[in-house]
Amino acid sequence: MTRIFDSHAHFDNDWYDEDRELIMQDATQELLGIINPGTDLETSRLAKEYATQYHNIYAGLGFHPHDAKKMQSTDLQTFAEWAEHPKVVAIGEIGLDYYYDHSPREVQRRVFIEHIDLAKQLHLPIIVHDRDAHGDIMEIIKTEAKGVPGVFHCYSGSLEMAKELLKMGYYLSFGGSATFKNAHKLREVVRFVPLERILLETDSPYLAPEPYRGKRNIPNMVQVVLARVAQERGESTETLAQATNKNISDLFAKIKL
Ligand code: NI
Repeated sequence: MTRIFDSHAHFDNDWYDEDRELIMQDATQELLGIINPGTDLETSRLAKEYATQYHNIYAGLGFHPHDAKKMQSTDLQTFAEWAEHPKVVAIGEIGLDYYYDHSPREVQRRVFIEHIDLAKQLHLPIIVHDRDAHGDIMEIIKTEAKGVPGVFHCYSGSLEMAKELLKMGYYLSFGGSATFKNAHKLREVVRFVPLERILLETDSPYLAPEPYRGKRNIPNMVQVVLARVAQERGESTETLAQATNKNISDLFAKIKL
């Protein structure tokens, strides 16, 4: 069985404070690789540290929309320096979150755009978080992100939006939310996305897949997501596994598989 990637997990999260080493050792042994996006300056630094420590953990750098209000004027310059690390493979997790509104929306938009500009300068792909902000996300992607490749993580938009994003070259990533019982609309998208644009993830420690919904999630659960998504698409897990690995190295050019 082909080992696969968890394209999105947060090892820095508090929920791993008791057993982080163990979880990371398990994940790095079971999986082909894990991408750990940062969500602010400190967690981006940690992501880079994990990538240094473990041969198959890779890092993203960025301020999550929740933490956009914490960004200082020098932080993007710091990211530019850290991005020289061979295993810093993306700018993210970045985007807009109008569900929680932990940062003012105009701050979220400004910080998102500044990260896109950084990704452009550094020739890195972006990892995008979008919750209840589909309209503004699409507007910014269309006007500010020309030529910047990327992935919409835990995709939650409509089929129509997915079609637009695919046309623009974006990848769509699916996690536990695609396994939830009532996620019929999302599974329409899961069935539609071409094999060469699909990624899988856990968003650990969040969004554990069925039948573990509500529990703490771990990167190895990406196998459960793989099985469910393959079933939904009428593909073998092997076909989907190999495709997602190829997609990882196509999108994240610094990852050599
Ligand atoms: Ni995340």
